[in-house]
Amino acid sequence: MAGLGAQRLVRADSLRALDRGRQTTLLGRDGAARVFDEDSSGLVRAALAFLREPRSAQELSAQLSSLAEAPVPEALLTELLAVLMDTGAVVPWRAQEPRTPTPLAGRRVLVAVTGAVASVDAPALVRMLLARGASVRVAMTPSARRFVRPRCFEALTHAAVYKSLWGGAPDAPAPHIALARWAELVLVYPATATTVARIARGDCDELVAACVCATRAPVVVAPSMNDAMATAPAVLRNLEALREDGRWVVHPTLGHEVAEHPSERRGMLGPAPAPQVVIELLEHVLRVSSPPSPRSWEDVWRGTPVEALPWTVATLDEDLVAVLDATARERPGARVLDLGTGAGTVALAAASRGLSVVATDVSSTALDLASRAPFAERVTWLQDDVRQSQLRGAFDLVVDRGCLHLLCPAERDAWRRLVWRLTAPAGLVAAKVHAETETTHGTFPFSRQDLEGFLGGGFVCESVGEGTLPGPDERAPRAYLALWRRAR
Ligand SMILES: Cc1cc2nc3c(=O)[nH]c(=O)nc-3n(C[C@H](O)[C@H](O)[C@H](O)COP(=O)(O)O)c2cc1C
Repeated sequence: MAGLGAQRLVRADSLRALDRGRQTTLLGRDGAARVFDEDSSGLVRAALAFLREPRSAQELSAQLSSLAEAPVPEALLTELLAVLMDTGAVVPWRAQEPRTPTPLAGRRVLVAVTGAVASVDAPALVRMLLARGASVRVAMTPSARRFVRPRCFEALTHAAVYKSLWGGAPDAPAPHIALARWAELVLVYPATATTVARIARGDCDELVAACVCATRAPVVVAPSMNDAMATAPAVLRNLEALREDGRWVVHPTLGHEVAEHPSERRGMLGPAPAPQVVIELLEHVLRVSSPPSPRSWEDVWRGTPVEALPWTVATLDEDLVAVLDATARERPGARVLDLGTGAGTVALAAASRGLSVVATDVSSTALDLASRAPFAERVTWLQDDVRQSQLRGAFDLVVDRGCLHLLCPAERDAWRRLVWRLTAPAGLVAAKVHAETETTHGTFPFSRQDLEGFLGGGFVCESVGEGTLPGPDERAPRAYLALWRRAR
């Protein structure tokens, strides 16, 4: 217990535990079972109940001793905690639980369900999308409705399921057009061989295929069928056509295709992957095909406690502090533009050094938060999107801390043009971005070479320094600070 010190512990969200009579079984991560009988079972259950809230080992000891009406020996408690932590049933509690914003938050996702057996997994997938903050609508083919009742999706989404091309009101767009326009991402899960064929040949006789053909959003198709169908030349041809047309086609998984008789089932390549895997693929597709919209950033700021957003720390990174100090020393009162200010860390640090600061962000919630901090009255806070900026002016220093790396490569040009337009002659541009090794933060990292040649347009790269940005855990992600100077 002494080893655990004051660290607080908490029951894991999900654990593998069973009770029977006065016996408790915990399954470890390795699958091995730890069985507790009688009093030990009581201790395990009491510990798990008490640790629903984060507590220290000392608090747990006091609680268990009070329940047992006798001190619980320290050696016993230490052993108990070791087993609970070893099996993953209890985990260390972190005050600032990292929550990297999922690109699904605030996005409008159309889930199109077709008549493959794997349609029974579609409700779980919809539930996961909703839990990640996506807004979900469901369209179903008639065959899909033989497997899963629309009511199931309606209960989850609190919205009517779309079932037909012909269901719309006369004064509204046809359902497939309305849905195709509404969606920011379309997922066909699962996709039957029949629906794949319809999409491949542009056959819009059925709602799901019509939505896919009519949308401009990225389309992810997750085929699901037994291996004989999955390897049929016609199906392979159709899947190839989908890829050629720019659809994202999910690889099948090795599963027990339930279209087979139970006695004949064997692992085969053909079924769609489990919902969790599909969610991760969707997040990737959103990351690479379109960066978070202003609306989804607003949702991130509204829906996440500010202390859980790693970049909101009040202390500014040392390398940026050095840039601000040098600017304040060499050009007192210089005009500073902070792009994507968030909670205003850079802007407020610049204002406290007497610099004249304009700070922009797409999120009004972030700006509202920033504008309540000390020195906030010295900053001009503006809602603006770096991709379609309305800003005018000439700034001696343009700073971007962690906004540029949120733009997908196709959108970097807009940033570049903005900076060209707004930097005064001899002005400095400072951009801090994730380094190329940081691939797990939902950003588009840069290499040193990317940065050296990035700005062009009469700017010279003065340096690319290595540093870190605040991260979702103790390990701060590697970052580069690039400095470019505009010619006089
Ligand atoms: C019990 C049963 C299971 C089926 N499983 C699949 C399947 O996993 N994949 C598939 O492509 N078709 C499967 N089918 C065939 C489709 O339901 C059928 O081709 C249907 O026309 C698909 O129509 P849809 O694409 O409009 O939903 C299955 C049919 C039945 C009766």
